[in-house]
Amino acid sequence: MNKKGFIFDLDGVIVDTAKYHYLAWKSLANELGFDITLEQNEQLKGVSRVRSLEIILGWGNKTLSDEQFSKYMAEKNDNYLSHIAQMDAGEILPDVPKTLNYLQETQQGIALGSASKNARKILQKVGLFEVFQAIVDGNNVSKAKPDPEVFLIAAKKLNITPKNCIVFEDSVAGVTAANSAEMISIGIGSQETLGHADYVFKDFTEIQTSFINELIKR
Ligand code: G6P
Ligand code: MG
Repeated sequence: MNKKGFIFDLDGVIVDTAKYHYLAWKSLANELGFDITLEQNEQLKGVSRVRSLEIILGWGNKTLSDEQFSKYMAEKNDNYLSHIAQMDAGEILPDVPKTLNYLQETQQGIALGSASKNARKILQKVGLFEVFQAIVDGNNVSKAKPDPEVFLIAAKKLNITPKNCIVFEDSVAGVTAANSAEMISIGIGSQETLGHADYVFKDFTEIQTSFINELIKR
């Protein structure tokens, strides 16, 4: 059977940590005297911690000293980590384990491609660390999504050419990154937001084994 590389984003694809990022950023914005909407939050998905804070400060028309900037970055991460501390396997999104099991059974390459510096910690919390043959996260890249670097490194680690890789992504920036890497992009979310992906599914419950088989064979 053919071997393909299946590269998963973490936040919003494997686990619903996107909601915790949102809560932490929202509380920080509130502290600075403004609010963040869910629509605005879409633009933060897949975006690094530093860049997210820069974008948020732009929305609130705020400028911070370097010292304050570092302080708020740490505060956001502490808030986020307080949610992560409560996580267990119950927070893995529906049918993600089913897909991962199938990919393991068929001996496909499985990698993680996330902007998060907390990715390894989260995979350990939910018991999925061992499933990934390669993990590329926010600590391993110099260029953030929509740059394709994270996925290209993951493909290299799997020893599979980019055109034989398939990326699962919930963010606008991540789908763009996968497309730039010339990989097959699968958006997890709404067609409205992720219309630039090759395929879009609401979540993994919509992804049939027959579809995975088609991807493996192509
Ligand atoms: C993911 C999330 C972003 C988050 C980024 C950095 O891409 O979608 O919302 O800002 O990771 O995460 P970190 O855990 O390093 O703050
Ligand atoms: Mg994501």
